[in-house]
Amino acid sequence: MFEIQMETTARVLVAHGKGILAADESTGTIEKRFKSVGAACGEGNRRDYRELLFTAPGLGEFISGVILFDETIRQRAADGTALIDALKRQGIVPGIKVDKGAKALAGFAGEKITEGLDGLRERLMEYRELGARFTKWRAVITIGSNVPTDLCIRANAHGLARFASLSQEAGLVPIVEPEVLMDGDHTIERHAEVTQRTLRIVFEELAAYRVRLEAMLLKPNMVLSGKDCPQQASVPEVAASTLRCMRRTVPAAVPGLVFLSGGQSDVRATQHLSAMCQLDAAPWELSFSFGRALQAPALKAWAGLPANAGAAQQELLHRSKCNSAARCRSYSDAMEAHRERFTNETGP
Ligand code: 13P
Repeated sequence: MFEIQMETTARVLVAHGKGILAADESTGTIEKRFKSVGAACGEGNRRDYRELLFTAPGLGEFISGVILFDETIRQRAADGTALIDALKRQGIVPGIKVDKGAKALAGFAGEKITEGLDGLRERLMEYRELGARFTKWRAVITIGSNVPTDLCIRANAHGLARFASLSQEAGLVPIVEPEVLMDGDHTIERHAEVTQRTLRIVFEELAAYRVRLEAMLLKPNMVLSGKDCPQQASVPEVAASTLRCMRRTVPAAVPGLVFLSGGQSDVRATQHLSAMCQLDAAPWELSFSFGRALQAPALKAWAGLPANAGAAQQELLHRSKCNSAARCRSYSDAMEAHRERFTNETGP
């Protein structure tokens, strides 16, 4: 009964020139990120940081949706407004991460399985009541000497498909995220091969579980050289390899691909997105659902100090604007050169 609404939401999330802000770091992950900039990590600080992100003036011009963490969807801003309402005021669709994290896969050294299916139906109903309209589940596939195994890919694909079907039952658009990590010294060809194998199995499972492709989004990794590979592929190579891999595996019925950034630098992630959008027309919208690549400069500018909130907002707006421009084929290096002036002129 939610089919039309879900298809509309999926299309709104990949609307022209807009993308998704992933702000769904678990408490442990955000603690690591805060530590890296010398910020303390209490509940209040997490709230203040996310409040500044969500209330950045004009964010809704570039950002269609925000992925929240369980704690955040229940929090209120300093003035008492629910954070979820602060997003809605900007015309931004609230979403929620519903997996419980990637844990060691017993019997398979070095591989992971994402947990969180138990009780998921009930949690989804609650999130819908709280105002969420889409969900996210991240599976992690690692490349190493004898990994990934087919079993690990299958087990994770099964989890993603069950998550997606339960989300659609609850009227929530699932964002299916099978992330093949860029950690390691593998070549771009190896990353392409593993990403292709993974996506094939993921779409087999989605079909087996009767997931409606028109009412979901795929959040894939870009196809890259491993972080420690001495031979780093160029931006055009990454764009071509990624699109080739997606065309071979992702049905055209899926409305959009919202790429994760996965540890790339913020500017490099934008350059890759821009290069893909410049290539021939793809059957799906090509967009972004970045965590670190949208937040890193903002987090650095903030550093846990309330006085820096305005400067941090300007950094988030800048990255959002650059990624929006990438989608519109109007991104250029000049936008980054302008960056310092932008920050200095409009920051506090
Ligand atoms: P990154 O863009 O930092 O990879 O985060 C996206 C995300 O939501 C990971 O689950």
